Amino acid sequence: MADISLTTDRLLLRRWQSDDIQVFAAMCSDPAVMRYIGAGNTLSPEQTEQSVRGFEREWDEKGFGLFAVELLEDKSFIGFTGLSEPAFLPEIMPAVEIGWRLAQKYWGCGYASEAARATLEFGFTDRNIPSIVSIVQSGYEASRKIIKKLGMHFDRQTHDPTCDRLVEVYRIQHNSLHRD
Ligand SMILES: CC(C)(COP(=O)(O)OP(=O)(O)OC[C@H]1O[C@@H](n2cnc3c(N)ncnc32)[C@H](O)[C@@H]1OP(=O)(O)O)[C@@H](O)C(=O)NCCC(=O)NCCS
Repeated sequence: MADISLTTDRLLLRRWQSDDIQVFAAMCSDPAVMRYIGAGNTLSPEQTEQSVRGFEREWDEKGFGLFAVELLEDKSFIGFTGLSEPAFLPEIMPAVEIGWRLAQKYWGCGYASEAARATLEFGFTDRNIPSIVSIVQSGYEASRKIIKKLGMHFDRQTHDPTCDRLVEVYRIQHNSLHRD
């Protein structure tokens, strides 16, 4: 599919480039970054590279995916925000999930919220997706705050069958996106 990118005040959201992989592998080897993802395991460089290939495949096959996120200021790659199908949670499928993962040094600057808002707008307006979910492990406040800021509503609490951790599912419909 054609190249696609979004720009926000501080960020460029774009398709993945080969240069991103090494930085992304360093991020995914950080236990603090991976703590609330699945069973909380870090990824090897090979696993990370495979993940990125999967992200790009999703873009090509479905027309949406996880954006690589870059700072406009200095072009640093800082992580991802974007859309994917949460096949790991069959009870809510079919569904499209919004997710985010940034390198630790960029946490707490509002970048994930900024990228997530642009991603929701993209999903609803450009891709006509009627409803988007977010799935967070119970007790993970950073993600929960972003979810609340986006105006998403609690849908259910359940177990992630891949690791048996408790997760909360939140949902937002196209026509209820806060645009102010
Ligand atoms: C979740 C994550 C993307 C948040 O990124 P971020 O850019 O720091 O998020 P934002 O700054 O936009 O907003 C997060 C909010 O949570 C707060 N926050 C950040 N870390 C927190 C923590 N450990 N505990 C509680 N609140 C936290 C921030 O202060 C901010 O709150 P505010 O809006 O009241 O100021 C980032 O922490 C991350 O990459 N975590 C590891 C990967 C991960 O677990 N991804 C999500 C899986 S569901």
